[in-house]
Amino acid sequence: MISIAIFASGSGSNAQKIMEYFQSHATIQVKLVLSNKTDAFVLNRAASFGVPTYTFNRQVFYESNTVLQKLQDEQIDYIVLAGFLWLVPLSLIQAYPNKIVNIHPALLPAYGGKGMYGMRVHEAIVANHEPATGITIHLVNEEYDKGKILFQTQCSVETMDTPDTVAEKIHILEHMHYPRIIQEWIEEAV
Ligand code: GRF
Repeated sequence: MISIAIFASGSGSNAQKIMEYFQSHATIQVKLVLSNKTDAFVLNRAASFGVPTYTFNRQVFYESNTVLQKLQDEQIDYIVLAGFLWLVPLSLIQAYPNKIVNIHPALLPAYGGKGMYGMRVHEAIVANHEPATGITIHLVNEEYDKGKILFQTQCSVETMDTPDTVAEKIHILEHMHYPRIIQEWIEEAV
């Protein structure tokens, strides 16, 4: 089996879709869900799938090898970021070269980089009267939002859209595509 670990900070609706998708997959399994928040709802979602969870604080994440050690102990092959809000330390990126994937709720390189995450992205899209937005699924390397793009797709932004309605449209796209793109990416790599 090829094992995935999902990192998420919040609700985890993407993590949920990914766990559903791979639940009965022949060769790929979600083996661990990690979070920087002990009360993140993603942990409940993981429990309902019987997927073990692991939480860590800032000091553990940035000043020790504990998380990397945990991933290695669990023989994790690929890392999936799904609404994970902390920057991944270089030591993890180097231990998993081209094996970390992220989803960004905009069409990178637009609306990426420092401070551009979650609702802030959708607020900026609406404030700037963008006619369209979308999702980007990309590899994570040393340059964060600049890793190789695996997939992008877009949706329109109408004048009556609000940051909340844009977020809903984006979630629909994410849920529709992220699990399949993860599968294709892993299958191409093996
Ligand atoms: C998603 O829109 C993702 O692109 C962004 O954070 C959101 C996470 O949503 N980085 P969820 O926790 O998967 O519901």
